[in-house]
Amino acid sequence: MSTDEKANEVSAEAADQEPITPSSETDDSGHGTEGGAGGPIILFFILGLIASLVVGWVIFPKLLYSQKKQPVDFNHALHNEEVEDGCDSCHFFREDGTYSGVPTLAQCIDCHEEVNGEDPEEAKFVNEYVAKDREVPWLIYSRQPQNVYFSHVAHVKMGKMDCETCHGPIGESESLRVYQENRISGYSIDIWGKNIAGIKRNSWDRMKMDDCSECHVRENVNQNSVQTLRGGCFVCHH
Ligand code: HEC
Ligand code: HEC
Ligand code: HEC
Ligand code: HEC
Ligand code: HEC
Repeated sequence: MSTDEKANEVSAEAADQEPITPSSETDDSGHGTEGGAGGPIILFFILGLIASLVVGWVIFPKLLYSQKKQPVDFNHALHNEEVEDGCDSCHFFREDGTYSGVPTLAQCIDCHEEVNGEDPEEAKFVNEYVAKDREVPWLIYSRQPQNVYFSHVAHVKMGKMDCETCHGPIGESESLRVYQENRISGYSIDIWGKNIAGIKRNSWDRMKMDDCSECHVRENVNQNSVQTLRGGCFVCHH
């Protein structure tokens, strides 16, 4: 046996035991296993890439948001059939132009003084809230921070905009989705944006400052001229 052949034997054994790192130390003969490592390395690269994509696009966004269930489920589609005035029956403008927002118990009591139906959500609503005269602590998907001023009259009455433009199809939904709160910023996902890459498919997917401004610039709402920059900020900040 020549030394070359011995060396080859050793290197073949080494390759058997550790297929990932064919050892170049034992293989000084020149006819080695070079190239055999390429496959595994590419495989590990691909696995690593997939793992980080899963973490970045699936796990991280899940961890980033805490999930909160609404205190009671509410079926908009069902109620729109029951009331006389559509959305205005529950969400209306007061005489002074301010917006009523989410309804209070007083607006439900005519129909829910007692449990009428079979739905366990209705029973929960009547027993835990109506009977105890406690307002339902609804979680507001579109809630902006304290220092932001928003006016429904300006948009709905003057701007003649649909609820859906900013809220999406909540008014037609049969069930309330979970409320998701960003653990870092404290914002609702409806404001912070549903897509982590920042892609906006619908006008209601995100409602950050730039989203308000983008429409204001498009619609020529006075806010951005250089001279009135400070005044510009105070359109939306008090
Ligand atoms: C019978 C009363 C009732 C009627 C009628 C009604 N809603 Fe509601 N709406 C509610 C209640 C209660 C909530 C609070 C629960 C929730 O957040 O969805 C709510 C919440 C909402 C919200 C969520 C606001 C937020 O950011 O959390 C939107 C948007 C909304 N309603 C739109 C509509 C539209 C549009 C219509 C008409 C197509 C409508 N509603 C009809 C009772 C009603
Ligand atoms: C015009 C009458 C009417 C008004 C006003 C009304 N409801 Fe209802 N509601 C009904 C009827 C009818 C049903 C279906 C039968 C049942 O479960 O009682 C229902 C069902 C429900 C249910 C169980 C089904 C579901 O939505 O998940 C809940 C919860 C409920 N209502 C909450 C409310 C709340 C909160 C308000 C006030 C914002 C309200 N309702 C106002 C008539 C009304
Ligand atoms: C231009 C965008 C826009 C339009 C159009 C719009 N909203 Fe809103 N809505 C908002 C914003 C922003 C908030 C949060 C306001 C805040 O937190 O101060 C909000 C809050 C609400 C709330 C919760 C308010 C509360 O404090 O209880 C309800 C309910 C609601 N909107 C219903 C409606 C309905 C119904 C319509 C259609 C008639 C409508 N909105 C049209 C942007 C809009
Ligand atoms: C899709 C378009 C659109 C979006 C989104 C939008 N706005 Fe507006 N906004 C308007 C229009 C149009 C007017 C002017 C309405 C009019 O007076 O005819 C207006 C007016 C206003 C006004 C009153 C300005 C004044 O001079 O009286 C305020 C305040 C305001 N918007 C705040 C906001 C905030 C805060 C947001 C985001 C949370 C927002 N808007 C999102 C279109 C939009
Ligand atoms: C069209 C409405 C609008 C105008 C005009 C506007 N803002 Fe805002 N701003 C918002 C809204 C909505 C938020 C909350 C959502 C967010 O943080 O993007 C906000 C948030 C902020 C925040 C907090 C950001 C954070 O991450 O906590 C600062 C600071 C701010 N605005 C400064 C300004 C200044 C300075 C101007 C004037 C150059 C201005 N804004 C003009 C709507 C507006």
